[in-house]
Amino acid sequence: MTTRTADIEKAAAVLRDGGLVALPTETVYGLGADAENPAALARVFRAKGRPPSHPLIVHIAGAERLGDWVREVPATARLLAARFWPGPLTLVLRRGGRVSPAATGGLETVAVRVPDHPVALALLSAFGGGVAAPSANRFGAVSPTTADHVRAELGDAVDFVLDGGPCLVGVESTIVDATGDVPSILRPGGVTREDLEAVLGRSLEVDSTGRTPVPGRHPSHYAPRARVILVGPENVVAEAELAQESGQRVGVLVPSSRAGAPVKAHTVMAVPESPAAYARGLYGILREFDRRGCDVVVVSLPADEGLGLAIANRLRRAAGPRPSR
Ligand code: TXA
Ligand code: MG
Repeated sequence: MTTRTADIEKAAAVLRDGGLVALPTETVYGLGADAENPAALARVFRAKGRPPSHPLIVHIAGAERLGDWVREVPATARLLAARFWPGPLTLVLRRGGRVSPAATGGLETVAVRVPDHPVALALLSAFGGGVAAPSANRFGAVSPTTADHVRAELGDAVDFVLDGGPCLVGVESTIVDATGDVPSILRPGGVTREDLEAVLGRSLEVDSTGRTPVPGRHPSHYAPRARVILVGPENVVAEAELAQESGQRVGVLVPSSRAGAPVKAHTVMAVPESPAAYARGLYGILREFDRRGCDVVVVSLPADEGLGLAIANRLRRAAGPRPSR
């Protein structure tokens, strides 16, 4: 998979014209628009079916540009940016004048990150400004980790899709609120809590009860069409077979402790070996259960440590109560 300079130039031109570009990042594909263009930002919300009160992440080419987008860069933010950018870390800071209020849902803060993907960085450099980009999926649905996922889900709503191959991290960035004296994790993601704590020399709360209306905190998010049932690892096989016997088409994600055991279910997949491979494969696996027409998916949660914290967070949300759709 090669992305040509001509594609980067075309994508940058589309952004300058107020259009929407789907761009690869190391986490998931984003649906990008000029962070200073309110009309383009309004199109992002429409294309996703996302309420405009839910703020977007502004992607920039390098940490040295951070000062353009925020009012001040506290020492904690400087430290985290130096250590983890480019990378799957998003910093929430007090917003500067440059970012359109349409991108921040009217909040006084802005979320910023430098993605670790050569195509995204080439686009950001060619464009020169900030690119506000949520994950390139319909609101509430599973995030895309390939260009084909984006095309299948958003189709004509996107003006240009930059194909950068499959995403290597596979879950979204970790969001850290760095506005106050005590940083906290608003969403676990590709940078682990342990790595953040090691750099900061202090423990970090995962603040899942904050006041900001963030989609990642809706009870149902990251959800496939199939209903997701969470059970303990020792019960995955029995629960799957029970549901299958009741006449449902069951997808089951078998934990390694039960690998190799025959399972009577419609679609059987194995939890990938390493946490990194699990994170990278998670959304593709959920999409595959849908593609095969499963009614329910039975899965157990990994331990809340390392990348397991982000994976478990997404699975809990995928299993959350949802509006009928
Ligand atoms: O890895 C990622 O973060 C991907 C790629 C494309 O960069 N983007 C992504 O965007 O996951 P999205 O919009 O799907 O999720 C962004 C999250 C949302 O939960 C949003 O509410 C939160 O970031 N957020 C944005 N601005 C915020 C702010 N000022 N304060 C608190 N949360 C904020
Ligand atoms: Mg999203």
